[in-house]
Amino acid sequence: MSTIPTPVDATKTPAWAALDTRHNELVSSGFTLKSAFADNPNRVDALSFDLDDLHFDLSKNLVDKTTLGLLCDLARAVGLEQRRDAMFAGARINTTEDRAVLHTALRRPLSDAGTVMNGEQDCVADVHKTLDRMYDFAERVRSGAWTGITGKRIEHVLSIGIGGSDLGPVMVYEALKPYADAGIDCTYVSNIDPNDMAEKVRRLDPETTLCIVVSKTFTTLETLTNAREARAWLLESLRASGVLDGSAEQDAAAIKKHFVAVSTALDLVEDFGIDPANAFGFWSWVGGRYSVDSAVGLSLIVALGPQRFREFLAGFHDLDVYFQATPLEKNVVALMGLINVWYVNFWGMGSHAVLPYNQYLHRFPAYLQQLTMESNGKSVRWDGSPVSSGTGEIFWGEPGTNGQHAFYQLIHQGTRVVPADFIAFVNTPNPTRDGDQDVHELFLGNFLAQTKALAFGKTADEVRAEGTPERVVPARVFAGNRPTTSIFGTELTPHALGELIALYEHITFVEGTVWGVDSYDQWGVELGKQLAKQITPAFHDDAALAEQDASTKALIAYYREHRR
Ligand code: F6P
Repeated sequence: MSTIPTPVDATKTPAWAALDTRHNELVSSGFTLKSAFADNPNRVDALSFDLDDLHFDLSKNLVDKTTLGLLCDLARAVGLEQRRDAMFAGARINTTEDRAVLHTALRRPLSDAGTVMNGEQDCVADVHKTLDRMYDFAERVRSGAWTGITGKRIEHVLSIGIGGSDLGPVMVYEALKPYADAGIDCTYVSNIDPNDMAEKVRRLDPETTLCIVVSKTFTTLETLTNAREARAWLLESLRASGVLDGSAEQDAAAIKKHFVAVSTALDLVEDFGIDPANAFGFWSWVGGRYSVDSAVGLSLIVALGPQRFREFLAGFHDLDVYFQATPLEKNVVALMGLINVWYVNFWGMGSHAVLPYNQYLHRFPAYLQQLTMESNGKSVRWDGSPVSSGTGEIFWGEPGTNGQHAFYQLIHQGTRVVPADFIAFVNTPNPTRDGDQDVHELFLGNFLAQTKALAFGKTADEVRAEGTPERVVPARVFAGNRPTTSIFGTELTPHALGELIALYEHITFVEGTVWGVDSYDQWGVELGKQLAKQITPAFHDDAALAEQDASTKALIAYYREHRR
């Protein structure tokens, strides 16, 4: 059994009361970002942080020195530092599943072997054994030493997984495409909607495709269904082209060359027909949404190569070390998490936009949705007691500038205030000019313009001064005072991306710790899975239909009536 301390009710701490008071003081004294900048010429310096490849500007947040001090007091009152260290050391802080939470062990160097134990298991040593096997396998695929059944080199990876077994790899693959140097492209299929598989395999040549089935549990309905679909597609296509004669031996030989697996359940992998020699494991102490840097990233090693993956892991690790070693007041990771708590619990801002000004990061908001919301969308604390404050920010977003022409209207002038993280990089792998104009600078100008407009707005007098007719003036006023954080990197490298992912992992941890929730379980996804099993037979079976509620019955009746 776990010996994790009972969560402290943050709302009962003196720091919470002081933050409440501070919020009221700021509101009643008319605190605005404009006044904060005017009052303190050192504000930007005081609220800027540099961490390797990333520069952080927190100055456009609704905070002052007193607030940040109180937020750090709150963090101390709930035992943030102790819980952080307990997590890194392998304590079973995932209480509802009675598991350690050791994604940070996935990126430790081999020299740390022996320092992180899960019972008898030397986690770091095991991580590196698996990494070595993955690197060896990936090199064979990349060099052409590993071929498909007809001897052709692998040119496509079809990765089959869902949730944490998909969102991380696809996001990183998209983000690091400029580093994919072996002529191998990756396609990710996740949805059980047959349209997803149909459209994805349409473009693939089975003779040159390697399927990677990724599932922590190897029981997930979508992934196993899609894996069977992919197996059927591959075997049928190879039979149709005369490569296979339909014999069980030839089928098995083809599966061996074209299917590998990533899972914690290696026995189930073998049952599926995948050679255990071609299976890569990870462990119960790695949560699905925290697993992109485990064997779950195999497709990335194949596409990008071992060296790039090592750099990616080093980025995670550098951020881990910083998060653990830096005092709270100077720790941008902790501060970002605490500022989010400030917005959710004291300003009533429940949603948070993440707006990458980098097209390569177009799947980053989707990735963060699982990371943050599956982690902190909880109503009970890790001891089962009900939470006493709001939890679980709603994370969402789209790359700029596209979002500017879609939902930024609401962020600028709506009645809800949406704190936003802007993420941009100084350098691009695709420098382009439009006449005299550097197009990337045009793009970055938009990133800076948006954060400026959100912070400082535009007054009625400024609008009038442009000659705007009086009746339209109110509609053209921007109240400003809308908080943003700018993360400005030098370049979207594997290392920088590793840091960025670890940053949000730890922000999620900080928020979850203040709220007292177990950020590492996900019981909220179970009921729907159970009901889907119960309901699906009702499409055809009257007895199963009779057990359903009135609304479900009516929807199934509609289905039955209209099915072709
Ligand atoms: O939907 C819940 C979930 O368990 C996620 O947490 C996980 O990332 C996903 O399903 C996939 O699970 P698995 O890797 O076991 O197939």
